[in-house]
Amino acid sequence: MRGGTGIDRAPGRPTRHDGAVIEDARLPPEGHGPSGDATRRLPDVERRRRAAASLRRLLPGLRRDAEAALGGTDAVAFVARVERSYPDVHLPLDALYGRGSGVDALTRRLLRVALDAAAARPPELRALDRRREVDPRWYQDPRMVGYVAYTDRFAGTLAGVTGRLDHLAELGVTYLHLMPLLKPREGENDGGYAVADHDAVDPRLGTMADLEHLAGELRARGMSLCVDLVLNHTAAEHPWARGWLAGDPRYAGFYTAFADREMPDAYEATTPDVFPDRAPGSFTWVPRARGGAGGWVRTTFWDYQWDLDYSNPEVFAAMLGTVLRLAGHGVEILRCDAVPFLGKRLGTNGQNQPEVHDLLQALHALTTVAAPATVLKAEAIVAPEDLVPYLGGHDRYRPECELAYHNQLMVLLWSSLATRDARLATTALRRMAPVPAEASWATYVRCHDDIGWAVSDTDAGAVGWDGPSHRRFLNDFYSGRFPGSFAQGALFQENPETGDARISGSAASLCGISDAVDRGDAGALEAGIRRLLLLHAVVYGYGGVPLLYSGDELALRNDVSYLDDPALADDNRWMHRPWFDDRPFARRRDPSTVEGRLFARLREFAAVRAEQLALHAGAPTDVLETDDPAVLVWRRRHPRSGTFVGLANLSDRPASVDAGLVAGLDTVLSLDGPVPVHDGRAHLPALGFAWLAEP
Ligand code: GLC
Ligand code: GLC
Repeated sequence: MRGGTGIDRAPGRPTRHDGAVIEDARLPPEGHGPSGDATRRLPDVERRRRAAASLRRLLPGLRRDAEAALGGTDAVAFVARVERSYPDVHLPLDALYGRGSGVDALTRRLLRVALDAAAARPPELRALDRRREVDPRWYQDPRMVGYVAYTDRFAGTLAGVTGRLDHLAELGVTYLHLMPLLKPREGENDGGYAVADHDAVDPRLGTMADLEHLAGELRARGMSLCVDLVLNHTAAEHPWARGWLAGDPRYAGFYTAFADREMPDAYEATTPDVFPDRAPGSFTWVPRARGGAGGWVRTTFWDYQWDLDYSNPEVFAAMLGTVLRLAGHGVEILRCDAVPFLGKRLGTNGQNQPEVHDLLQALHALTTVAAPATVLKAEAIVAPEDLVPYLGGHDRYRPECELAYHNQLMVLLWSSLATRDARLATTALRRMAPVPAEASWATYVRCHDDIGWAVSDTDAGAVGWDGPSHRRFLNDFYSGRFPGSFAQGALFQENPETGDARISGSAASLCGISDAVDRGDAGALEAGIRRLLLLHAVVYGYGGVPLLYSGDELALRNDVSYLDDPALADDNRWMHRPWFDDRPFARRRDPSTVEGRLFARLREFAAVRAEQLALHAGAPTDVLETDDPAVLVWRRRHPRSGTFVGLANLSDRPASVDAGLVAGLDTVLSLDGPVPVHDGRAHLPALGFAWLAEP
């Protein structure tokens, strides 16, 4: 049985997921059904009481163990972290894996994993832990600016990245996200999101020693390393998957499989396809191995990415080990990939289920206990009401991820550029729940993925638009087929059945720069540059950690060279995953070039941002109503610095807002000089923006 006794399960005993008793798999897994819900429904005070009693039983032993493993003040700090975080470990594990002594034993075992990881941390990382315990909100500092790149495309290898650190420093970067770099499967690997070995670096990029070395170099320059943690699945070639398939008892129940189509059909009836064109459905037939597992294996993404089954506590324990080893190599920020999909429930869309939040809460707490210098960032590309909980914003706060992608802001900015109208953005952003003070958005213009139009029908309705037709318009507009569109993107995963599609394309191409260059139209080029800068000005000034996507600082356009590589050709997201090009890079200091203009401005954005206390990500952002539909207005207040207001005119005509919004504020950033105020209005030119602050 799973549940309370999961951890005590004799190794090798067949479970319903390992193929041996496959019929049994028709039952919803425990912890994903009534028993977990019963625990979740207990009054908070009761659940806390149970956690407190459990902590009391565990503390004496824990003190002894910590003293032996860490000694001195490190032991004191470790125990203090356990005491502080204990409810965040125990409560969710209780809800996930059952009640009573079983969960106590599981908690004890996982804390031992955390203690061993703490003891294994090298002195530099222990020193960093100290710093971060003194300054636990370090990631909210206005100096934070992220940069996101593929190691090979940016610098060849991990060792090569060292040679590019000056480039990053010029841009004010303090956080470097290197795209998936653990050893992937051979051949197609979804850009590295099909991990075949969590403890090895992709040999084409270097070794784990190279990664540690780079992390150290970054640290020395005040930069934090971020890498991907692919939680939802492994490659079919991963040792866990091989072991499971072969019937190795250590991996029993690591994945989900069904003997026939009954359950897969039932699940698929309500779960949307992620990759409808080449990977429809969420299950893949894997022939049953002799004496082992197989059947219809759950594969939410590509067929070679097998979903881990987190209803099994062994999977959680294994993933925790992975996380702590990565932290031990010097990774400070873990980008938790595709987290909404971690908990599967029949009859739902298979995203954002209560288990997902329990898993993240427990993973976060245990990570903080072992390696307090580490933070988690959620990649949850979901509807606005489902997004804030990943930052702990439930009806009652619970620590989850420190950072989460602000997918809404990104989508709404692109939507506003296409409609030349900020009302939808204003409405939708104002309706979002506030973010807990400890957590922050990662704001961004573009990333390596497609843009999915997560505009809710309610928000569209509130400005008098129809959700489905607006989303269709956005696809038409950004794929360039809408008459008069400035964009040169491409449809991604068009689904003829539902009419859904998403958009690929580089920021510069989506902003009209490609089209303008192709047509040799200087006016259009100017507008394209202004759009690209405007989007970045919002993202750098919104509050949160802005993430600059490699190549956007040089306005790199769509790159179709991926079509020549059969392992990439079928996935047009590669058009916006550029190879870093030294020629445009060499032009970055020439103000007469596109690259020169962008580069200089992005440097300026980071420099001005660093000085604005109001951009400390712990202060809230308020989006304000205004009477000009073209303008997005947001305000931030910090007790030490007073008010900051951002203005962005998303249309191609001049616009203005009530001068009262900016009374007493000075322009600290704009392309067009100080914001002119006359006739009771503050004026912006077409595609103009400004940051204003109290002197
Ligand atoms: C995330 C990644 C995406 C990948 C998917 C599956 O959404 O950003 O690139 O395809 O997860 O791992
Ligand atoms: C993940 C992301 C989604 C993306 C997809 C493929 O599902 O959450 O945004 O479209 O992967 O890239």
